[in-house]
Amino acid sequence: MKVGILGTGHLATTLGRAWAGAGHVVMVTGRDPRRADRVAGQIGGAARAVVPADFAARVEVVVVAVAWEGLAEALVLVGGADGSLSGRTVIDCTNAVDYATGQLKPSSDSAAELVARVARGAHVVKAFHLFAGASWPYSGPHDSAPVVAICGDQPEALETTGTLAGDLGARTAVVGGLGSARQLEEVAGFVMRVVAAGCNPRLAVPDVAGR
Ligand SMILES: NC(=O)c1ccc[n+]([C@@H]2O[C@H](COP(=O)([O-])OP(=O)(O)OC[C@H]3O[C@@H](n4cnc5c(N)ncnc54)[C@H](OP(=O)(O)O)[C@@H]3O)[C@@H](O)[C@H]2O)c1
Repeated sequence: MKVGILGTGHLATTLGRAWAGAGHVVMVTGRDPRRADRVAGQIGGAARAVVPADFAARVEVVVVAVAWEGLAEALVLVGGADGSLSGRTVIDCTNAVDYATGQLKPSSDSAAELVARVARGAHVVKAFHLFAGASWPYSGPHDSAPVVAICGDQPEALETTGTLAGDLGARTAVVGGLGSARQLEEVAGFVMRVVAAGCNPRLAVPDVAGR
């Protein structure tokens, strides 16, 4: 798959490296072309930096790995507000969370719904926001594979996200439509708060066998 990563930070690099390792063609873009070049180099393999204006035309799926504060700006940069991502799977990894306190940043809707609002016509899926980028790829036992909870409104976009998660060694659990994104984003804040309280978040939820 031609995976386009919007963002040039830590998550862009770690996810990009994992997907490039799984054989995907990774293209990176961001507001700073030199940083995009550097990240493409760090990802290695066939990864390439592309200028924002060319990004949408060159990729099949978009992964948004941008700080909450720059989210709308970054989507506008790649033409999202003009419909460049219309019909495309756009995976939003944003944590609109204050990392120090675990508190959600004030917003009228979830980050994923903001993505859908700005990137006109995009098929937005919330995913990959809960695990550190450095967790990927997972290579432990299959029955302990991480479960990436995702939500979105378009079955094809959910399926594409499931394929990309599988290539990271994870499974996905679809928890609802995009209207569930706020709940998934709250979980990230919850996890941070439990960690800040000195506990392992794995032990803060019941151990219930899945069906
Ligand atoms: N790191 C992780 O393990 C992880 C895991 C799950 C989810 N996330 C989420 O993924 C996103 C990226 O995290 P990160 O760790 O990669 O952060 P990071 O290393 O700080 O990178 C932030 C990215 O956002 C861009 N950005 C920041 N402010 C911007 C603005 N005002 N306008 C346009 N672009 C802006 C930065 O561009 P410049 O480089 O040009 O400043 C950079 O590409 C965040 O929403 C984070 O919550 C991160």
